[in-house]
Amino acid sequence: MKRLGILVTIAILLVFSSMGLRNIRAARETKASAPPTFYKDVLPILQDHCQSCHRPGEVAPMPLVTYEQTKPWARKMGATVAMEMMPPWFADPRYGHFSDDPSLTPQQIAAILAWAEAGAPAGDVRDAPAPRKWAEGWNIPEPDVVVKMSRPAPIPARGEIEYTYEIVPTHFTEDKWVQMVEVRPSSAAHVHHAVVYIRPPDSQWLRHAPVGEPFTASMLSDPEERREAHETTSDLLLVYAPGSSPDKWADGMAKFVPAGSDLVFQMHYTANGEAASDATSAGLVFAKSAPKQRVITLQLNDHALLIPPGADDFRVEVQGTLPNDAMLLSLFPHMHLRGKRFEYDIVHDDGSVETLLRVNYHFHWQLSYKLAEPRLLKAGTRLRAVAWYDNSRNNPHNPDPTQLVKWGDQTSDEMMVGFFDVAVPAGTDKWQYFVRHGETAGSTQPASPR
Ligand code: HEC
Repeated sequence: MKRLGILVTIAILLVFSSMGLRNIRAARETKASAPPTFYKDVLPILQDHCQSCHRPGEVAPMPLVTYEQTKPWARKMGATVAMEMMPPWFADPRYGHFSDDPSLTPQQIAAILAWAEAGAPAGDVRDAPAPRKWAEGWNIPEPDVVVKMSRPAPIPARGEIEYTYEIVPTHFTEDKWVQMVEVRPSSAAHVHHAVVYIRPPDSQWLRHAPVGEPFTASMLSDPEERREAHETTSDLLLVYAPGSSPDKWADGMAKFVPAGSDLVFQMHYTANGEAASDATSAGLVFAKSAPKQRVITLQLNDHALLIPPGADDFRVEVQGTLPNDAMLLSLFPHMHLRGKRFEYDIVHDDGSVETLLRVNYHFHWQLSYKLAEPRLLKAGTRLRAVAWYDNSRNNPHNPDPTQLVKWGDQTSDEMMVGFFDVAVPAGTDKWQYFVRHGETAGSTQPASPR
């Protein structure tokens, strides 16, 4: 009976996906030899590809650390890895190579499938790899400093929630170079995304807003500040969304946090039926020596997007020309409920288009895509971001297919942001980076990245 169940599951998988078919065939071939065991074959895969989320205290609902924890999930694991639904990853494999790509090889998928089919044998515990060591509560090494929202933000059970801000002083008495950073909400289930900004002491941004307590833009008395809350050009420390990976820059590269800076947490909470509160932390690991390159986050975005009701593949494009050389490190597309696909391209002088990344967008999984090989983009390189939206009834996430959809904060509004991180010489800040040299007026397009 159990066997039949497995066969039926496999039959369903076959109908759905030739990917699945390929993977299951490989599993059959693996099965001819001795079946894989948990300790020898499966556990190493879990350590490298799953436990970053599937261990206690992380985003996944169940840990996959011990045999006892993993065995009941064997069949589900087989099905989800065969369908390539786990580990989550949405880059079209035809474009680019990414160092944070957690995807399994066909052999690894086959091993998990064959293990599940063989009844999930434990094998010999002496074959097990050493348990993977994680810094308690972090996916980066033990942070040098943790900057945490001092007062938790209340999250109501229902309704749309305006962006919540909290300004937290770092108390840094000297300039700091941050080589690794991880953002951790205390209530991850309520966080749609978070942006942590660096506010240097000379910045006027939100200067009249309270410090050390949560607030929303509409609580600010100054209309100019209310508007500015959403439209800052401040430097970004990190963009976070559930499942996104922390930033770990190579030696010699880091983000710059001037002495006396504040971190500004911009939190997008979503109600999920249960009231809660959240105090998000940012864990920082400092560079051991002064880096040669400074990492800055730029963006290509289109605030003017207008998505007609019912459109099922609506395309929005934005281009910008880089004013100076920059080493491209990573990409992080951001859209809301109607997002469908997102692409970053280089448009070459001869008009040919080179795709750097195409993401089959998934609202619940907003990930960063880190280039396996950083790419030097010369001054004058034309970058393009293209987003496609599904505002039709066929999109199961669509809250209202009859709406003309505009830019806005709420998930029922839309966004089109292509964040990208670049490394520039350590002495260059974002403003200096945008100074254009030796240009005749009108010879290039105005830059859209900000
Ligand atoms: C980036 C974080 C992340 C990684 C990495 C990850 N998972 Fe998950 N996994 C989740 C989350 C969150 C859920 C629950 C929500 C969902 O199903 O999307 C989940 C759900 C699952 C489920 C349950 C699916 C169901 O239908 O109930 C299985 C099985 C699973 N993961 C297996 C794996 C395996 C095996 C790996 C590694 C090969 C892996 N996951 C890697 C985050 C992750």
